[in-house]
Amino acid sequence: MKIKSIISTFLLATMVLGGTMAQNAIIKIDLDRKIGEVDKLLYGNFVEHLGRCVYGGIYEENSPLSDERGFRKDVLEAVKDLNVSITRYPGGNFVSNYHWLDGIGPKDQRPTRMELAWARLESNRFGTDEFIQYAREMGTEPYLSVNMGTGTIEEAQQWVEYCNVSEGPYYAELRKKNGYTDPYHVKYWSLGNEMDGFWQMGHLNAEDYAKKAREAAKLMKLTSPEIKLIAAGSSNYRPNADPNEWNGTILHELRDVVDYLALHMYVGNPNDNYYNYLSTPLVLEERTRVVKGMIDREMQNANRGDRDPIYIAWDEYNSWYRARTDETMAGTRALEEHYNLEDALVIAGFLNAFIRNADIVKMANMAQLVNVIAPIFTNEKGMFKQTIYYPLQLFSKNAHGTSLDLFVKCETYNTEEFFIGLGESTTKQTDVPYLDASATYYNDEVIINVVNRNKDKAITTDIISQSGNFNGELSIVEVNGPNTKSDNDFGKTTVESKIKPTLKAKANVVKYSFPPHSFTQIKGKIKK
Ligand code: AHR
Repeated sequence: MKIKSIISTFLLATMVLGGTMAQNAIIKIDLDRKIGEVDKLLYGNFVEHLGRCVYGGIYEENSPLSDERGFRKDVLEAVKDLNVSITRYPGGNFVSNYHWLDGIGPKDQRPTRMELAWARLESNRFGTDEFIQYAREMGTEPYLSVNMGTGTIEEAQQWVEYCNVSEGPYYAELRKKNGYTDPYHVKYWSLGNEMDGFWQMGHLNAEDYAKKAREAAKLMKLTSPEIKLIAAGSSNYRPNADPNEWNGTILHELRDVVDYLALHMYVGNPNDNYYNYLSTPLVLEERTRVVKGMIDREMQNANRGDRDPIYIAWDEYNSWYRARTDETMAGTRALEEHYNLEDALVIAGFLNAFIRNADIVKMANMAQLVNVIAPIFTNEKGMFKQTIYYPLQLFSKNAHGTSLDLFVKCETYNTEEFFIGLGESTTKQTDVPYLDASATYYNDEVIINVVNRNKDKAITTDIISQSGNFNGELSIVEVNGPNTKSDNDFGKTTVESKIKPTLKAKANVVKYSFPPHSFTQIKGKIKK
């Protein structure tokens, strides 16, 4: 009787306390289970002439915070600390009404234009030469998008000539006349932006785009044979669109020509459904797998000589759902999202997905760098780092080398209607793991990246090395906050990277409790 009552008291306590009890999980690491090399271009970003990304963001003439070139010094410091490997410029939708010649030469003689994508005036005081100088300061690879909407293939060729030809022809000499003696050697060029989108100026159907892109590519490569080309894959996953039809045609038609297929994805949490929102990076992963299969099929009959196969460039990704009204999508304050902790966890989820697919995803660009759906936010007096800055920085600093295929065992959940954003929704997601993990290995050191999606419970995890013992202590950094809506602001940093006490490993096992709604990066050595 007595034993029975002890058991039932225990069971009752378990049920009552169930909401706060920790879950258990296992992560196994096997150094021989390799996915692929993590390309440093996974940690890219994007600067578009949109809202205050350029003017009032990276560039603010006559500000006491700027240097003599107009570059905001405080912003540049934060940008440098992000280790941005590649920066896409100048759009985005903007590029489909941009004529690069408007943005070179003496600033006071550059024309002011109506900017139709985001309803502003474009002064053109920041253009190609300023961007290249900025990219050099950032220590980033420049990546230019040509105008395949209202632009011509000739204009694209002339831009490549301006940037990459040393001397002789007109546009190379024009660069020199403008004061830039040496060519810029811009290696990455995209053939337009989101050309399948009905919103794109000069939108084309897949066949017409493929024809125009192929001819532009021909002229661009004849001008500068070493360049890498990125084709516009589908960005339109709305219910009536057929993104895979578009991707299939582009891959088939351009399989001998281009080096990457660009995909874009924005997600959001408009219905305030935390668990749905935290699952959205899984959709990116599904789309990646589908496109990978299509690429594999086309590569079987491609004629690429000794060039690499086509890779995927997720060259726009982020959370973007608050600034989506007519007012917040136009003018000089467009797309100013204020991020919180749950957004940072979604970004960590995206980055985990890129690492888990490192064999095919070889470039990714967070959209965008400053103010416009961005990790850095300014006003005329200063700046602050948004929550999403911190996971991106941890990945770009540390997650390099070989991506490892982890075994993860943990509890899962199901979502309801699975809303993504941009008018897209998809079916219910089942068996979403509470732990979302990736790992890389470089120079005897393993980096384990873990999002605990559970809002309320810590997850106690045995991290087991299958191929050798942990050697010494493991260091831990965590991005977290008091609750999922915690945010940062001017003079307030609630969510940031915090160093936690080191972990002592016993042989090949280490136990760690991942706190609720957290991103954790663990770094340690494994001795084979
Ligand atoms: O990054 C904001 C916009 O999103 C880009 O201009 C466009 O390419 C995408 O639709």
